[in-house]
Amino acid sequence: MKLIVAIVRPEQLSDVLEALFHAEVKGLTISRVHGHGGEMEHVENYRGTTVKMALAEKVRIEIGVSNHFVEPTVRAILGAARTGEVGDGKVMVLPIEKIYRIRTGEEDQAAVTPVAPPDEE
Ligand SMILES: Nc1ncnc2c1ncn2[C@@H]1O[C@H](COP(=O)(O)OP(=O)(O)OP(=O)(O)O)[C@@H](O)[C@H]1O
Ligand SMILES: [Mg+2]
Repeated sequence: MKLIVAIVRPEQLSDVLEALFHAEVKGLTISRVHGHGGEMEHVENYRGTTVKMALAEKVRIEIGVSNHFVEPTVRAILGAARTGEVGDGKVMVLPIEKIYRIRTGEEDQAAVTPVAPPDEE
């Protein structure tokens, strides 16, 4: 199991969500974040040139997936989040030690894939 963490442009979020939906990836968490990708903005002041670290608004997407879904999930994000301009973001893949579904107490593989509630099965 892996935790896929993606930092993307807010403008690309709906395309990314659509691509994930088509890849059948349905359990995810989204946060608004501020980040910095290394670009430096040069600012003149009365003492000479200083460098300002400007933060940009980004969206952080966290997705816990079974190993089978790692590749399709990453492909979906890379395809939908890319504009080709600097600042498109990052995708990181982290190991997950344990996952528990709180409602049922299921663990790991059984807990990572979203399931329909009993009345929809
Ligand atoms: N090393 C990092 N660790 C954590 N978050 C990062 C890292 N690099 C970038 N980010 C996050 O991703 C956002 C976008 O980064 P950005 O796309 O500018 O990365 P980059 O490596 O500079 O690539 P590019 O050359 O395309 O600009 C940042 O605002 C920040 O939130
Ligand atoms: Mg950058």
